[in-house]
Amino acid sequence: MEKTAPKSITVWLTGLSGSGKTTLAKQLKAELETTSWPIINLDGDELRKGIHKDLDFTDASRKENIRRTAELSNLLNDSKISVIASLISPFEADRQLAKEIIGSDRFIEVFCDCPLSICQQRDVKGLYQQVDNGEIKQFTGISSAYEIPLNPTLHLKTAELSISDCLDLIKKEIRNRLR
Ligand code: ADX
Repeated sequence: MEKTAPKSITVWLTGLSGSGKTTLAKQLKAELETTSWPIINLDGDELRKGIHKDLDFTDASRKENIRRTAELSNLLNDSKISVIASLISPFEADRQLAKEIIGSDRFIEVFCDCPLSICQQRDVKGLYQQVDNGEIKQFTGISSAYEIPLNPTLHLKTAELSISDCLDLIKKEIRNRLR
């Protein structure tokens, strides 16, 4: 990677809870930081603890969650700060809106494609168990929809590829964009 990024980009990771978004986002940030690029992670779980505290998991709130994160990413990119956004972002129309807000030339949509059964098996946060116990309603992939991305920049089968393979593919796409 170049030492100084010629422009800023937003890597937008979409996929089910447990599909590997946050893991990829953290490692990607760590690798890109070694190039001294200004870069920030915007993670759904983190945003929802603070600036998106008022949002729940209704379709309308998820839409607002994506819109605000896209506007934030746009401002950061305008200030030459790259963004790695990891949000389920379950609806195609909202992902399209994010692309429009940020600009298609700097928006890299990465579909973290992992079968629901594997996300449930991993159950990193214990949330799928809580869904089974009837403690969480409107859970993506179970009682709330996840619309498969129609035309993502990258389609990563995260249950089949290694983390480093996924990162290599994302970094290759970033290099293409910066050329
Ligand atoms: S999004 O649908 O609005 O894009 P976001 O990425 O911000 O979702 O938040 C998803 C995270 O919230 C999940 O990884 C999980 O930890 C937690 N969560 C809690 N309740 C739900 C739910 N009903 N559906 C999905 N995720 C949930």
